[in-house]
Amino acid sequence: MINMTEEMNHPVPETEPARQFYFMGLASEILKKKTEEAGRPLTFCVETFGCQMNARDSEKLRGILERIGFIKTESEDADLVIYNTCTVRENANTKVYGRLGYLNSLKKKNHHMMIALCGCMMQEPEVVERLKKSYRFVNLVFGTHNIFKLAELLVRAMTEDEMVVEIWDRTDQIVEDLPVDRKYPFKSGVNIMYGCNNFCTYCIVPYVRGREKSREPEDILCEVDRLVKDGVREVMLLGQNVNSYGKGLENQISFAELLRRIASKDGLDRVRFMTSHPKDLSDELIHVIAENPKICRHFHLPLQSGSDRLLKKMNRHYTKSDYLRLVEKIRSAVPDISLTTDIIVGFPGETEEDFLETMDVVEKVRYDSAFTFIYSRRTGTPAAKMEDQIDEAVIKNRFDRLLKRIQEIGREETARFTGQCREVLVENVNEHDPSLVTGRLDNNFVVHFKGDSSLIGRIVPVSLDECKGFYYIGRQNGDAY
Ligand code: 5AD
Ligand code: SF4
Repeated sequence: MINMTEEMNHPVPETEPARQFYFMGLASEILKKKTEEAGRPLTFCVETFGCQMNARDSEKLRGILERIGFIKTESEDADLVIYNTCTVRENANTKVYGRLGYLNSLKKKNHHMMIALCGCMMQEPEVVERLKKSYRFVNLVFGTHNIFKLAELLVRAMTEDEMVVEIWDRTDQIVEDLPVDRKYPFKSGVNIMYGCNNFCTYCIVPYVRGREKSREPEDILCEVDRLVKDGVREVMLLGQNVNSYGKGLENQISFAELLRRIASKDGLDRVRFMTSHPKDLSDELIHVIAENPKICRHFHLPLQSGSDRLLKKMNRHYTKSDYLRLVEKIRSAVPDISLTTDIIVGFPGETEEDFLETMDVVEKVRYDSAFTFIYSRRTGTPAAKMEDQIDEAVIKNRFDRLLKRIQEIGREETARFTGQCREVLVENVNEHDPSLVTGRLDNNFVVHFKGDSSLIGRIVPVSLDECKGFYYIGRQNGDAY
């Protein structure tokens, strides 16, 4: 146990983010003592499960831990391991429980080691109960709403012997200006909103991430300015449903207007966004994309199902023909745009006819790629209580047929740019062949071409000589900038 009285002689600030900076200072002091005790620097590892939102949250966790003075490592054999969890499908939970057993074996060999769990899975009461009962070796558990409190909670976990658990049901608070450790110097996610109000009947997100809250546009624009000054060339605007951005703000603003303002920033080369719900995708948004070349030619438009009957049961608020009309509208305004999607197979009550409707959309839209998911019964969602849960073997058969077509079409469509010269933002040296670098076109296609690490973070004109299924082998064809 460490005596905290010395460090506690200043009043604790009540407002954020000052309060968290205070606790970062306090945690640094405690860490110094622990480092002396250990006789070596203490390390941390943050493992991310799930979506881009979690990936961005993990960058925030890393920023705070680095500010405290922990040393970052990629290995879970660290002195502090944080799992930032996902719960959108059951197998995400199973994976975490399995890996906790492994962490426990590491902890038995390192008495300095602390284990923390956060993210969506922690917002489920049954999970927290199970951890309290059977995973006593976990030191700290927190949720999605109080992630900004990492420093404060860590001080408790570092000084108390008991497992520290703090989960909030909801929050209206958005804490700005905490440290962030970006994975890539040249590109970054930017949260524009948190939570979701859509309550698709299969989805647990609204329960674990809470109601929609938009960030103030000024805060977002300032963050983008700061990122650009810091060398960022591409931002990805993040929200569960970016199309409803701005609702509930005092000065209402649409997502299209926000996108227009961000794209007009000097020094920023590319803007992406994720995810768009088809039900409220506006003509204004399509117009803004069409007239602004900095906005990436990629639309991720989750379909989920092609059957009107299932779309209704899923509470999606569009029909197959609404969706196809929307695709038509996007393609006529922005020809050659890359379309990707999410599809669920085996939603309760799905018949062969329903499934064929989904296949029909896949044939008509011809996606460049798609995430296909087997329906997972999430306790607490309305669909979990629906009758007609589908037999596993039937689902597997449909899933395989869908995946096969998605891949065939994806291969054919990806090849459509062969022979063209396009700009690639270079991300890294190729892992398998160090004479190549790897980057992405604005439509998100992957390209490999001859080059070295000096090209990382630069935009390079590349001839797309050969399509190899889902990626291109290209050749530099102009100066990098
Ligand atoms: N089962 C299977 N897939 C799901 N998704 C969300 N909830 C479930 C579920 N219960 C998928 C949806 C969503 C993506 C992020 O995850 O396709 O768009
Ligand atoms: Fe889940 Fe639907 Fe919200 Fe997406 S829009 S997070 S699928 S409830």
